[in-house]
Amino acid sequence: MVSDDFIVTPWHVQGEIDYDKLIKRFGTQKISDQLSERIKKIAGDDHFMLRRQIFFSHRDMNKILDEYEKGNKFFLYTGRGPSGHTHIGHLIPWVFAKWLQDKFDVNMYFQLTDDEKFFSKQNLKLEETKKFAFENALDFIALGFKSKNTKIIIDTENIQMLYPIAAEVAKKINFSNIKAVFGFTNDTNIGMIFYTSLQSAPCFIEEKPVLIPLGVDQDPHFRLTRDVAPRIGKPKPALIHNIMMPSLEGPGGKMSASEENTTIYTTDTPEVVKKKINKYAFSGGQPDVAQHRKLGGNPDIDVSYQYLKIFFEPDDMALKKIYDDYKSGKMITGELKAILIEKINDFLKDHQKKREKAREQIDKFLFKDS
Ligand code: TRP
Repeated sequence: MVSDDFIVTPWHVQGEIDYDKLIKRFGTQKISDQLSERIKKIAGDDHFMLRRQIFFSHRDMNKILDEYEKGNKFFLYTGRGPSGHTHIGHLIPWVFAKWLQDKFDVNMYFQLTDDEKFFSKQNLKLEETKKFAFENALDFIALGFKSKNTKIIIDTENIQMLYPIAAEVAKKINFSNIKAVFGFTNDTNIGMIFYTSLQSAPCFIEEKPVLIPLGVDQDPHFRLTRDVAPRIGKPKPALIHNIMMPSLEGPGGKMSASEENTTIYTTDTPEVVKKKINKYAFSGGQPDVAQHRKLGGNPDIDVSYQYLKIFFEPDDMALKKIYDDYKSGKMITGELKAILIEKINDFLKDHQKKREKAREQIDKFLFKDS
């Protein structure tokens, strides 16, 4: 692998991602300052994930806003492949979706693809992915969504509603399209080959345009959906993409629910969080304190700093101080890690409480086929 090489697909992310290159590769649009300002103006508020370009790319976001300004609402959709417990990287698009929902007052659908993860993971049984679907739903609900305007779809539970839409989509995608987009081969199981049509289905649940906040690795599915949409008489889904949460061992790769040591789960205890950060979080610091004081650290490659920037420190002033202090050598790696550990554990303490409460609320959120 050449040094600037990287892979981003829905099932595999590897290497150090160059997001500008990825925009070109995928054919998406960069979120310009102008678009960012426009979102801010219409929303009447700003979000640090926009400001910091955690959401960096889009498809047709301007169209969604044009229509919204004319009084035509959109709806929101995102999802999760339940291959394990939720990790903090998954929360990025969900938190942002909640913000969009509040600002634009729109409906939201959340798809849990227990079938997909059963198809794509050799070692997982369908009962297991389904169990994780319910566990992951708790994390989603814990972020504050309301059942009156938010519904959770579980593929194997809601197939009756999904299937007629998936069938419309499936008829317009042929094997060579899928092979070209995902690199599938003759030994790929046919569940995977059909799967994009199921992930497309929620795009067409309402007679309105959809906006999908999502990790950029999921874009290839919706590139196909967007090609199909006009051919089945539907609006193309609009997308707003976030960067991937780096693995603790970064740089390069994304946090993966199946790599336990390099991933922070929402179910981790404070001790586990502390241990993982101290032991595994890639440091931009110097080999020893004396050198660090003299030369300073590199926050741009430091994973603890990245986590603060991407998720755990929304306050720009506080973040900048950490950046400057670490760069100048005033702050050492141990101190930076201690800040992150505290932030994560504060967040998780509250989140885990809400997550338990969600067990009683989940039924109200589940989409009921009828
Ligand atoms: N395939 C996604 C995953 O593996 C799950 C998913 C389903 C999704 N529908 C989506 C993600 C819509 C983003 C947007 O996590």
